[in-house]
Amino acid sequence: MSWRKRSNSDWLRALPGVTEDEPLATRTSFGIGGPAEFFVESGRVEAIERTIAGCVERDIPYLLLGAGTNLLIADAGVEGLVIRVVNRDHSIEGTRVRAGAGLKMMRLARIVADANLRGFEFAIGVPGTVGGAVYQNAGCWGREMNDVLVDVAGFVPGHGKQTWTKKDLHLAYRTSALREGSFMGALVVEATVHLQRGDGEEAKRMMAKLTAERNETQPIKTKNCGSVFKNPPGDSAGRLVQAAGLKGLRHGAAMVSTLHGNFIVNEGGAKAKDVAALIERVRAEVKRRFNVELETEVELVGRWK
Ligand code: EPU
Repeated sequence: MSWRKRSNSDWLRALPGVTEDEPLATRTSFGIGGPAEFFVESGRVEAIERTIAGCVERDIPYLLLGAGTNLLIADAGVEGLVIRVVNRDHSIEGTRVRAGAGLKMMRLARIVADANLRGFEFAIGVPGTVGGAVYQNAGCWGREMNDVLVDVAGFVPGHGKQTWTKKDLHLAYRTSALREGSFMGALVVEATVHLQRGDGEEAKRMMAKLTAERNETQPIKTKNCGSVFKNPPGDSAGRLVQAAGLKGLRHGAAMVSTLHGNFIVNEGGAKAKDVAALIERVRAEVKRRFNVELETEVELVGRWK
């Protein structure tokens, strides 16, 4: 491919902290996927921005990685550079909370409860980072990023630093302009959310209750990627998978969860191709039985072809 030239490999190799052929499976909640050709991890925003700009100038493909909780990485790994974004700072001013993209949503949920703020309890059910949650408008229990977001500081290669409103980001059910739109490839630097003053202890009790509930309905202690499919309008993917009798279906070490039909569990050593095969079998069967086309919520990245 065009970006493969000596000068580009030299540039990549000169990035501070860069590694080659870096395993990614351990950096995903699924525990699946091949290595990154080049890999760098940074919490320094300016450095990340320079790196992204450098990749774009040189046509080097790059992938921005957070907690890796909604990804299925190909067994052949990821071409170019994988940048793991780990800026985790936060600040609270009144009812406004600003959080770095690399901060985990669950951690932020506890931080804001400690600060006696309410309205972010849903984040205790979102396994990824703040950046990832903005990217796909993550949510749980009927609440989503869109409900609390004020604005997002970001970086668009070629255009520099920007501040996006919710409107700019076109947040919709599990997607945004960052995931499929004009801001694809842009970096989420930090997000500001607006919450309400309230009783933090009450928030913690509510989160404990929600977590216990999630523990009973989702296989949260297993290696998985969260919901595999988006819920089709007016229905639930999990319900459809169950009704099609597909719970417990296996392909290699990947299995449709027996607890929740919209989860696929890596029982240990599952390959990305096993999961992809299982996804296709579930899709085909749900289409055949109910004439519903399930769309994946999990994002397939890397060298699939
Ligand atoms: N159901 C079944 N069988 C199953 C699973 C579910 O019949 O195997 C039924 C349930 O009984 C319920 C309905 O389907 O009546 C909906 O199920 P559930 O409440 O578990 O929610 P969900 O729609 O499957 C959504 C989000 C989850 C989020 C939960 C809880 C999507 C794709 N999923 O799941 O988000 O945690 O609500 O709020 O929107 C994620 O995005 O990764 C994720 C896990």
